[in-house]
Amino acid sequence: MEQVVLFPSGPVSYYYGSTFNKVWDICSDKEVIFITDRNIFDLHPAIFENKKTVILEAGEASKSLAVVASIISRLLAMEATRSVVLIGVGGGVITDITGFVASIYMRGVDFGFVPTTILAMADAAIGGKNGVNIDDVFKNIAGTINQPSFIIYDNQLLTTLPIKEWSNGFAEVIKYACLFDAEMFDELSQHDLTYYRHNESALKNLIMRCAEWKNKIVAEDEHEHGNRKLLNFGHTAAHAIENLYKIHHGEAVAIGMVIAATLSEQVLQLTATTTLQLKNILRGYELPTKLDINTHEVMNVLKMDKKRKGDHIDYILLEDIGKAVIQPLAFDEIENVITICMQ
Ligand SMILES: NC(=O)c1ccc[n+]([C@@H]2O[C@H](COP(=O)([O-])OP(=O)(O)OC[C@H]3O[C@@H](n4cnc5c(N)ncnc54)[C@H](O)[C@@H]3O)[C@@H](O)[C@H]2O)c1
Repeated sequence: MEQVVLFPSGPVSYYYGSTFNKVWDICSDKEVIFITDRNIFDLHPAIFENKKTVILEAGEASKSLAVVASIISRLLAMEATRSVVLIGVGGGVITDITGFVASIYMRGVDFGFVPTTILAMADAAIGGKNGVNIDDVFKNIAGTINQPSFIIYDNQLLTTLPIKEWSNGFAEVIKYACLFDAEMFDELSQHDLTYYRHNESALKNLIMRCAEWKNKIVAEDEHEHGNRKLLNFGHTAAHAIENLYKIHHGEAVAIGMVIAATLSEQVLQLTATTTLQLKNILRGYELPTKLDINTHEVMNVLKMDKKRKGDHIDYILLEDIGKAVIQPLAFDEIENVITICMQ
């Protein structure tokens, strides 16, 4: 099913429930170069056979300016012209770096994505943010906002995805349910990870729904002056926890969402039952709801967040499932809640 979404910076064609070979319909008369990582290349060799492909080491470390420079050298060695189409086949690391390279190579060339993780399908491949990290610590600090021409969804590629990466991606899926979609929240509470791993059509619908929510928000606020900030639900504390304790991003987001829900109980009267439901959902998707942390340490990192305004920080809270707001919170208030809910 093809859907075209019009963003301020241009249209993007979404091919849901498609197959990898759609690439050849879209780019039949074009020069194509794939960018992927070693894991995907080794697990799906047939799709890259006899195709020009840049293979990166798997993992977050590839999102660096040094790797960007090395990809550009490879493109030059392959004699890629301005009419090349770069296609990122992979998770969020690959879609981010492909979008970034495509935005700067010869001042910008065409690009598309074939996302291969739940996280990339539901979130990272969408919205046009393409960034790399600096010094391993400053995440996505150098980047562009530039939309791909197309995104192809081929769920067959998920057959090789490790279970940990399924959970990781579901943290973002649960985030979309909390922010925008009470019906999806109920659906998630009635099922678990095993259900979606074995029910392709339910998974396809779920991913499409997340993508549609993100498209709607980004189409209204591509440059994050307003409601796009809501997509940071669970991420403020998560970034601090992830950096300090080196846990998976999805695990940190799960814990971050529990903290945000508990803060919402205190500040906005979200019911304790809703927070409990959220925790139960997270467990069903094999995600943690707490971690043994040093609250003081976490607060020190939080205080360096770019959303800080004096002794406050803009936090994404829930009035209810499906009703998110941006709320300035004092650091003391946050510290108390983190201490309580991580015990
Ligand atoms: N641009 C955005 O809006 C946005 C939003 C959210 C996250 N992100 C970025 O996304 C990245 C995280 O994405 P991710 O979780 O997809 O990470 P990832 O790209 O590192 O993929 C996770 C792991 O799964 C492997 N893998 C991917 N697809 C596979 C498959 N089908 N079979 C087997 N193994 C497979 C990869 O090799 C890697 O080891 C972060 O860098 C984050 O900053 C970007």
